[in-house]
Amino acid sequence: MTAVGSLNRSFASSNRAAETSGVLYVPRVQPLDGALGALSFFTRLLKNPLRILPAAAYEEGIVWAERAGRLVCWITDPALIKTVLLDRRDVFERTSVTQRLLGPLLGNGVLTADGADWKWQRQTAAPVFRHHDLLSFVPVIAEAAERLLGEWRQDEAGATRNIDRDMTLVTFDVISHTLLPGGESHVGPLIGRANVDYQKPLGWQMAYANFKIPAWVPHPGWLKMQLARRRLRSAVASLVAERRANPTGKDDLLQRLANAKNPETGAQMPDELLIDNLLTFFMAGHETTAKALTWTLFLLARAPQWGNRIAEEVRQVAGDGPLKPEHIDKLVITTQVLKESMRLYPPAPIMSRQARVDSELGGAPIKAGTQIIIPIYAIQRHRRRWTNPDHFEPGRFAPEVEAQIPRYHYMPFGAGPRICIGMAFSLIEGIAILATLARAASFGVAPGSDPEPISRVTLRPAGGMPLSVHLR
Ligand code: HEM
Repeated sequence: MTAVGSLNRSFASSNRAAETSGVLYVPRVQPLDGALGALSFFTRLLKNPLRILPAAAYEEGIVWAERAGRLVCWITDPALIKTVLLDRRDVFERTSVTQRLLGPLLGNGVLTADGADWKWQRQTAAPVFRHHDLLSFVPVIAEAAERLLGEWRQDEAGATRNIDRDMTLVTFDVISHTLLPGGESHVGPLIGRANVDYQKPLGWQMAYANFKIPAWVPHPGWLKMQLARRRLRSAVASLVAERRANPTGKDDLLQRLANAKNPETGAQMPDELLIDNLLTFFMAGHETTAKALTWTLFLLARAPQWGNRIAEEVRQVAGDGPLKPEHIDKLVITTQVLKESMRLYPPAPIMSRQARVDSELGGAPIKAGTQIIIPIYAIQRHRRRWTNPDHFEPGRFAPEVEAQIPRYHYMPFGAGPRICIGMAFSLIEGIAILATLARAASFGVAPGSDPEPISRVTLRPAGGMPLSVHLR
């Protein structure tokens, strides 16, 4: 039996179990239990990096392993995570693997840069991400969700939609009508195809990086990946050229970055770096929220009682009208469902750092270059830190219960000074879209669909997410 076969089988049998127990059980991806030969390890990593997460990472706080002659360390212990992301962050930097996966597309922008290069870019963008200002985007977000509903209404009743794609397009619609106006015409036509072409082969690049195989060695999808990268960068370059020629005077993210000056040199952000940052915000700014919503709708298809509760709540708070900024904080159940979905299916499932210099971690000496993996997926399904870690129980995020969750047990947005800059934006957006869609529709899982979550920087459902849509 192949690994894929056994995994699908365990998914199917556990879904039957879920139907009988009444509380939805969503099994974790099978962890790695025991040592593997190099070829099996490579194949497993290629299929899904979550399949090489050691079983011990779900039970212990720190796990060491040797990979291609190098020491790798998985940490799920809250104190160690704090050490790496906060207390001794100057020792732990972005990894060469991250640079290799994302550097070709995102260059030296705020997500990929380190040190002083990172700091001024983060400070430049930060003022655009104030919670109160972001709330003013709610009507635009609700309109984007309504546009999608309009498409669903054209379909036959109960038609199956590719929800992964729908969520990608609706979140792109949002980012290009809020933070990055103009994105629709330049980058819009590429979204859907180009980011899939870039992300799909990332498994190869990750496996290559772990086995020290150079990035230029071709692999399936290599050419498409290079083309997607070139197309995306040149689309953003034309957006930059247009904005430089016609400054709008608005204080949007694009204009802030275009006006920014490096405090050390006093020079304006060069076009290449501006493109790096815009692509960073285009990609990070829609893809992750899209995945959060995709998995949430999947969970609602499996546990429709939660979809009904959301629909009731939204009607109570907003009636049948469009969502407004003042509704967001009142959508308590909607928020709980979204947060619990991001616990079981963290849209960015694995973070990593590497030691910049020789140092120590958890009492053990580590050499410069040692990779530290922070597996959000395992942290949020940790056997000792969560009761029923694989069960979908949104009540964990009822305000008084959520307040008891210790820091670093739940961290879909990371932690420390490099915590996701878009956290408030994506929560507001996620709540507004989920509320609008779940008020209007319920969802069903197409027969035979039982997607494995695959880590390709973001958490993608294997084979997409076909769900049937039933308008209420
Ligand atoms: C559900 C949605 C999202 C999730 C789960 C998520 C998750 C994350 C995580 C885990 C990190 C930390 C990575 C690390 O430290 O290694 C991060 C960083 C980042 N995110 Fe998000 N993100 C989301 C939405 C967004 C949005 C909407 C934007 C922009 C509009 C955004 C922009 C960024 C940027 C620029 C960084 C790098 C920050 C830095 O290094 O200073 N993200 N995100």
